[in-house]
Amino acid sequence: MDTWDALKKDCAACQNCELCRTRTNLVFGVGREDAEVLFIGEGPGEQEDLQGEPFVGPAGKLLDDMLEMIGLDRSKVYIANMVKCRPPHNRDPLPEEQQACAPWLRRQIALLDPKLVVCLGRIAAMGQIDPDFRITRQHGQWFDRDGRRWMAIYHPSALLRDPSKRPETFMDLRELRKEIRERCCRTDTT
Ligand code: URA
Repeated sequence: MDTWDALKKDCAACQNCELCRTRTNLVFGVGREDAEVLFIGEGPGEQEDLQGEPFVGPAGKLLDDMLEMIGLDRSKVYIANMVKCRPPHNRDPLPEEQQACAPWLRRQIALLDPKLVVCLGRIAAMGQIDPDFRITRQHGQWFDRDGRRWMAIYHPSALLRDPSKRPETFMDLRELRKEIRERCCRTDTT
């Protein structure tokens, strides 16, 4: 049977792709290890690489504000990335890097067994929900798979670049809060 300790140990020793050579820290994930809601980002940026925690840079500050809008914080959910090591110069993770890193996220999802999964941005949505995912058209929609509900919202970095997308994201977050209230008995949104 898998455990969080075994997974963290295996992941820390990962050399499945070249990103392990350029990283400062591996960014495993943060939050409740029995969270009912999982957020999945793309991969660590500069601050995340330096601090070893996901979403701690400017996009992370906005993510915290977004969570707060619906009464959530990091201690009530789990936050992970598809790729655990920073791609140089914040480029998108390559398909082979995503593939090499996929077993870690798969094991995190199996251990957590979340009811709701929220992909942050296009890259996570394409990797986790549908390779043809169109974030502009499909954000905020629920997809049922493996006994869970999956949704994608705009990545906080996209919202920093283009604040005009924020009202739509607020509606998506309200939809998420509604679903949490209906399905998640341990996740308080107040
Ligand atoms: N962007 C991501 O997708 N993940 C992080 O951890 C930080 C920024």
